[in-house]
Amino acid sequence: SIPVIIDCDPGIDDVMAILLAFTRPELDVRLITTEAGNQAQEITAYNARAITSYLNQTIEVARGLEGPFIRELLFADNVHGTNGLGGINFPEPQVEESSLTAIQAMYKTIMENEEETLIIATGPLTNIGALLLAHPEVKNKISYISFMGGAAVGGNVTPTAEFNVYSDPHAADIVFRSGVPIVMSGLDVTHKAFLNENDVKRIEEIGTDLSKLVVELLDFYKKAAIETAFDEVDHAKNIRLHDLCAVAYTVNPTLFIGDNCYVAIETQGELTKGTTVVDYKQRTPFPKNVHVLHTLDREQFVQLFIDAIETASKL
Ligand code: BDR
Ligand code: CA
Repeated sequence: SIPVIIDCDPGIDDVMAILLAFTRPELDVRLITTEAGNQAQEITAYNARAITSYLNQTIEVARGLEGPFIRELLFADNVHGTNGLGGINFPEPQVEESSLTAIQAMYKTIMENEEETLIIATGPLTNIGALLLAHPEVKNKISYISFMGGAAVGGNVTPTAEFNVYSDPHAADIVFRSGVPIVMSGLDVTHKAFLNENDVKRIEEIGTDLSKLVVELLDFYKKAAIETAFDEVDHAKNIRLHDLCAVAYTVNPTLFIGDNCYVAIETQGELTKGTTVVDYKQRTPFPKNVHVLHTLDREQFVQLFIDAIETASKL
């Protein structure tokens, strides 16, 4: 199995992504690092330990940077609640926080693995940007970064910017220009990664403590999504498991279709700050640095998630 680092900001959909990763034999999760994003670093680091511990894993969890390179902190209380997990309290985590910082721990993990490490990133890119600046030698020891973030179709924070990129566009810029291959699960594909009422019913029917917890988390997440839905169709597709896409791709890339494109990050624009500028139509001569996902086999994606909840219930 492949050595994996998950850099995340849990976050309800981050927790679902972590859950999937823990259940897959293809992935050997060696380290979890946390970003300030959906909530403050203090909270996301706690939540990462809480879910790791709840699923009886002993993986190292290292705390990341307190906030973005330049811009001010921005949280997503409306979507994930003030504790980042919809107000649901997990048992006190047994897993201790690592004595290393996220950047030290990522560096160590990447350099000591003989094989290349896969990074799954489901939050802002602050830690990864800092890692690549501090230790550029890690670049050729990373197979690729499976990143949930960005959008070509339109944003969810501003008309064009998606939350994870908008939260730290300068860090995203460093990462996207680093030369490390990137697979981007942006809103183009993650808006297709939704659960409908029937899918939630199937999760309920698993009937374990974990499946009940998942349904509770999804319930909170759904309420927030309904409030921000822009029409009836959007309303019906409201439980979007954005971050799960970044893990699902690493498990089974054939569930997705994408295009190789040049993608740049807008860090300045008055209206467009934090936008991923995706050169779908090849209007620039620049090398294609990102595999941009846009299509998903939703049925199989949902099945993968349901299987993961069943497997994780036995961990
Ligand atoms: C992203 O923003 C966060 O709220 C989610 O966890 C996801 O990573 C979606 O735009
Ligand atoms: Ca996230």
